[in-house]
Amino acid sequence: MSLFEKIDHRRLPSHIAIIMDGNGRWAKARGLERAEGHREGVSAIRRVVEAAIRTSVKTLTLYAFSTENWYRPTEEIDGLMDLIVYAIAKETADLKKNGVSIASIGDLSRLPVNVREALESCIRETEGGRNLKLVIALSYSSKWEITEATRRITGDVIKGVLKAEDISEDTISRYLTTSEFPDPDLLIRTGGEQRISNFLLWQCAYAEFYFTETFWPDFSEEALYKAILDYQSRERRYGKTSEQI
Ligand code: IPE
Ligand code: IPE
Ligand code: MG
Repeated sequence: MSLFEKIDHRRLPSHIAIIMDGNGRWAKARGLERAEGHREGVSAIRRVVEAAIRTSVKTLTLYAFSTENWYRPTEEIDGLMDLIVYAIAKETADLKKNGVSIASIGDLSRLPVNVREALESCIRETEGGRNLKLVIALSYSSKWEITEATRRITGDVIKGVLKAEDISEDTISRYLTTSEFPDPDLLIRTGGEQRISNFLLWQCAYAEFYFTETFWPDFSEEALYKAILDYQSRERRYGKTSEQI
């Protein structure tokens, strides 16, 4: 029985979020430039998107570039931005054909204009795709997002649009950039680090975490199925006892 066949399709994570880490170390281990690792990382994205569609996962969020990543050497940042534009241009037609609709979260105002335009046009082109919502976290960090939400909530309270006493957990979720997506059920991090690196802090309150040593460029369809199977072996109790579930 293949890993795919072992998946229980009635108990799928409806939203998987991935911290795609390890491109640089993948390249270094092969005596290559870090940029080669990022390039190979794009192929991994392609594989994982196809595997997500095949399993009928509805939302996939990929952490592509964090606000902290702006502190990397300019050369690496420029290379990554060029790669994003190139990958969008190359993949948009296939994404559309496969029923993938693109969305993005993050501080897009910090992106070079050509990257922002490429992303916005891909979002427009793929609108309405029904098989998978692919959310790209670009220039994203959770603390940035929560700070922005707090500013907007405060602004609305001052304007009288919102009453302070009406602010609930749901209100906060609605002011986050992820408001239209369900919270992730499964958070995967490749590359061996066991940390969250400022990603979806609020939204992952009850996500199941899955860490793997595999560097992102080596992450395969099978690796995704393995993570889903691991997820399905867990009991999500949400504070309750096992007997209550
Ligand atoms: C993840 O791989 C991609 C980005 C953060 C853009 P890294 O570039 O962080 O690779 P490592 O962690 O140095 O191996
Ligand atoms: C996290 O990877 C961000 C992305 C994958 C986009 P990093 O490689 O930047 O994470 P840290 O800084 O090592 O935690
Ligand atoms: Mg890293």
